[in-house]
Amino acid sequence: MAASKKIAVIGGDGIGPEVIEQAVRVADAAVSRHDRVSLEWQRLPWSSAFYKQTGKMMPDDGWDLLQQHDAILLGAIGSPEVPDHVTLHGLLLPLRRRFDLYLNLRPAYLFEGVQSPLRDKAPGSIDMLVYRENTEGEYAPIGGRLYVGAPSEIAVQTAVFTRRGCERVMRAAFEGARQRRRKVTSITKSNAQQFGMVLWDEVFKDVARNYPDVQTHSLLIDAAAMDFVRKPESFDVVVASNLFGDILTDLSAIITGSMGLAASGNINPERAFPSMFEPVHGSAPDIAGKGIANPLAAMLSAGMLLDHLGLGKSARAIRNAVAAVLKAGKPRTPDLGGNATTTAVTDAVLTFL
Ligand SMILES: NC(=O)c1ccc[n+]([C@@H]2O[C@H](COP(=O)([O-])OP(=O)(O)OC[C@H]3O[C@@H](n4cnc5c(N)ncnc54)[C@H](O)[C@@H]3O)[C@@H](O)[C@H]2O)c1
Repeated sequence: MAASKKIAVIGGDGIGPEVIEQAVRVADAAVSRHDRVSLEWQRLPWSSAFYKQTGKMMPDDGWDLLQQHDAILLGAIGSPEVPDHVTLHGLLLPLRRRFDLYLNLRPAYLFEGVQSPLRDKAPGSIDMLVYRENTEGEYAPIGGRLYVGAPSEIAVQTAVFTRRGCERVMRAAFEGARQRRRKVTSITKSNAQQFGMVLWDEVFKDVARNYPDVQTHSLLIDAAAMDFVRKPESFDVVVASNLFGDILTDLSAIITGSMGLAASGNINPERAFPSMFEPVHGSAPDIAGKGIANPLAAMLSAGMLLDHLGLGKSARAIRNAVAAVLKAGKPRTPDLGGNATTTAVTDAVLTFL
């Protein structure tokens, strides 16, 4: 009998479940054709609706349950009915820390047939891979508020940078660059942030010494924001802190056509915990329930998941089928200028598969 891989599915909120179910269909089809395993999906209803019912984003034994899986596929978390900081700190951010998913891999590629909002960009001319630090930095839950509501109110939010945290994401970025065009750009702000970001720069220099075959650059975040628009083709691998990586990858997503095309993986390279894969986009409340969300980012994320599980043939098949649908020019959802539904796009991907 074929081996099976157990995958936890957290559809989440808004368009999350809509796109994730399509990704599951596509992953099943790819694996049944290209790899000799079966996929066992366990759907977990953790979401803002779950929070409204139970007061928690996930049950107390949720971590144990997740740990019994080979990987996690997540849609998006966030609802206008629950404050974002409650939902984010109730599931997504603790998940990344608890399972030490310290690499957030965010590829950005301009597919043939997709119009970049930037003028005259040829297919494949934008091709970068952002390594975002995912467990510390500006998103560390360190700080507090004092005299809440009073005119004298104070909020303190402390960023946490550790030598180990910087080093491990940078090493991974250099290793990744060796599989690509051998160029790593580090994103910094050490001119203004003289502790955390100066440590970041120093560690980058230390790590770079071990990779003399890789070209390096260090760029201030403000200059990087400009260059992502002005000359995105100059980037290969980019390594950035939690906040900077988060912001820059919305930019890298939109210059490659749509938020609906941007995939990501939250990886624990040591495989001590299941890694988690999700589209970069959020729950898109403005289009939720209309059946028009672009499912391609979720499918590409499922492809990254399969690749992580050693099912490279299926992963490549998904990426090729997505590329073929985009090249064909239709069907496409409204974010890419079409008027097709989520399911129609999935059906087209399945046909190419
Ligand atoms: N990882 C996550 O779960 C995650 C990430 C970002 C935002 N959020 C949450 O999602 C909610 C909405 O946030 P937002 O509006 O800032 O960001 P968003 O990514 O949900 O939406 C931004 C814009 O992009 C469009 N869009 C996004 N994904 C799309 C898709 N697949 N197909 C077509 N169009 C798409 C939306 O319609 C919207 O106009 C908030 O609660 C936020 O906290 C969650």
